[in-house]
Amino acid sequence: MSNTALQQLNQAVQAVMRQARAQVLAQMGTQLTVSEKTSRKDLVTNVDKSNEHFLVHALRQLDPAAKILGEEGLGDPVESMTGHVWIVDPIDGTMNFVHQRDHFAMMIGYYVDGEPTLGYIYDVMGDRLYAGGPALGVTVNEQPLPAPADRGLSAGLFGASGPLLIHDKYQMQAIAHASLGPRIMGSAGIQISQVLAGELVGYLSYLRPWDFAAGRVLAETLGLVVSQVDGKPVNMLSSGAVLIATKSAQRAILTIVR
Ligand code: IPD
Ligand code: CA
Ligand code: CA
Ligand code: CA
Repeated sequence: MSNTALQQLNQAVQAVMRQARAQVLAQMGTQLTVSEKTSRKDLVTNVDKSNEHFLVHALRQLDPAAKILGEEGLGDPVESMTGHVWIVDPIDGTMNFVHQRDHFAMMIGYYVDGEPTLGYIYDVMGDRLYAGGPALGVTVNEQPLPAPADRGLSAGLFGASGPLLIHDKYQMQAIAHASLGPRIMGSAGIQISQVLAGELVGYLSYLRPWDFAAGRVLAETLGLVVSQVDGKPVNMLSSGAVLIATKSAQRAILTIVR
C-alpha cells in the first residue's frame, strides 16, 4: 500500500473511531443491558455489541476484502494472518465501563500479511486517540507522540494485571517489587497507552488478540518491545501472558521470570 493510501486509511479510521465515541457517549445516557459471559467478572453490555457491530461494518466499507476479528464475534472467523486483518476490541475494560463509567478504551489493530501496520487506542472518557504505525509514526489527537525514554524497571512504575498480581503468576510480585510500584487500571488499552506515553515502563497481563493487537503496533513503532513473558515473539491469533515494555525494563523482567 502506498504511503498516501495508508495516510488516507489512517484518517478514515480515526474518523470512524470519533463517530463511535460519540455513539458510545450517547448510549451511556441510557439504561445499559449488562450480562455475564463466563463469570461475574467477565461482563458484556449492549454497547460492547453495538459498537463492535458499528466498527466492523465501517471497516468492511473501508477495506472490503479484509478479514475482521472482533471480540464479541460479530466479525469473521479468522484462522490466519495472511492478507488484510483487522482486530477489534469495541470496549476494552467493560468492568470499568459498567462500574466507573470511565477508564475504558476502544481498540483496532491492522495487520497486512502478519505485519503490524496500523494501531488505534481510544481512551474514550479522556478523549485521547492514539493512532499510527511504523510507516506513519504515532500521534495522540493528531499531535506527534515522541518515543518514551528507555527507562529501566527500577526507575519506573509497572503496569500490573489484578489476577496475575493476586495469584503471583509469572513472578508478578517480584517484578512489581523491583519497580517503583505496581499500577492496575483494569483496561489493557489504557495501561498500554500509559506505556506509550512513558508513564509506565511496562505492562504485563494475560491477553487475548484484541487486547494487544493495537498496542503492539503502536508500541513497536515507538521502539518499545512486545513479547511473551519468556521473551519469545507473540502470536496474533493466540492468547497468553504478553509483556509490553521499554527495552531496559524487558531485560530486567526476563531476568526475574527466568
Ligand atoms: C479486559 C481488560 C482487562 C484485562 C483483561 C481483558 P475487556 O478486556 O483489558 O484489563 O486484564 O484480560 O480481557 O474484556 O474488558 O475487553
Ligand atoms: Ca470482554
Ligand atoms: Ca479487552
Ligand atoms: Ca472488550
